[in-house]
Amino acid sequence: NKDITILSIETSCDETACSIVRNGHELLSNIVVSQIESHKRFGGVVPEVASRHHVESITMVIEEALHETGLTAQDLDAVAVTEGPGLIGALLVGINAAKAFSFAHDLPLIPVHHIAGHIYANQLEEELTFPLMALIVSGGHTELIYMKDHLSFEVIGETRDDAVGEAYDKVARVIGLPYPGGPHIDRLSKKGKDTFNFPRAYLEAGSYDFSFSGLKSAVINSLHNHKQKGLEVNEKDVAASFQYSVVDVLTNKTMQAVEEYEVKELIIAGGVAANSGLRARFEQLTRMQHINLHIPELKFCTDNAAMIGAAAYQLYLKEHFTGLDLNGRNFIDI
Ligand code: KG4
Ligand code: ZN
Repeated sequence: NKDITILSIETSCDETACSIVRNGHELLSNIVVSQIESHKRFGGVVPEVASRHHVESITMVIEEALHETGLTAQDLDAVAVTEGPGLIGALLVGINAAKAFSFAHDLPLIPVHHIAGHIYANQLEEELTFPLMALIVSGGHTELIYMKDHLSFEVIGETRDDAVGEAYDKVARVIGLPYPGGPHIDRLSKKGKDTFNFPRAYLEAGSYDFSFSGLKSAVINSLHNHKQKGLEVNEKDVAASFQYSVVDVLTNKTMQAVEEYEVKELIIAGGVAANSGLRARFEQLTRMQHINLHIPELKFCTDNAAMIGAAAYQLYLKEHFTGLDLNGRNFIDI
């Protein structure tokens, strides 16, 4: 069995990343250039700014990823790239770099779905065991996915409005915390209590979809009301109350899905998987119900190219290659 070495590129949002992964799990290099400092002053990711930064960094991250391994293009078997979903201008920078590299070195080109990457991040640490349930929670995604085998993705639930990380960031902004606000709310919430009892949106019975915009509005309204009446708000309690509502809904729906689909393996990934309240509750619930919980190391939970390389390996085995007409796509089924 020959080793398969794949160079992968990820530029769907605000990280310019390139990685080299062997056989879908052996990490040879992993370069991530974050643009967060540039977007901070705008309070969120500005798409045009993101594209420009990707253009500035892409060549360097590819060179660096190769340099770290001491490999050359001749040692590679394929090039993989995130084709979507994401910011279209940002995606296109990575896609065009990947096309150029694939053309120049005569390597097959593998298009990878960003969410498949988030799930396969777990494979960098251990083999995936099927069937499994995966909850992807980030600034752009909230998806519950059932997999009965490699590359078989069934989206059983997703957000109907804001992604959970987006709700965190918007609430944080209203409280006056810096972007990205998720970690700040998480930190504050540890010192507060659930005194506000904000709504929990479970939607129709049996639905695994999510909705966070109502919760977000409830938090914002309650902050405004307090202000109007000249009352002090306890920000720690606001943060804790918001987080309890989010954690209740995410964990209840996910554990219900785990039960209905009779899986024993649960993966949580995406930037919000760093949340201390979410992790603690999932750890407790999965222990009680004898479910194996997998949360990749944080650097593989947030956007990176190694996860794209891990997913690409499975696609390589199936010869899922694309031509130079590959385009970036914002809405794309997994
Ligand atoms: O996966 P990610 O790095 O980027 C994408 O959105 O794809 O996720 C970033 C999101 C941000 O919304 C950030 O506020 C949130 O993850 N986040 C957290 C925590 N750490 C990061 N949200 C809640 N609690 C945290 N500890
Ligand atoms: Zn992501």
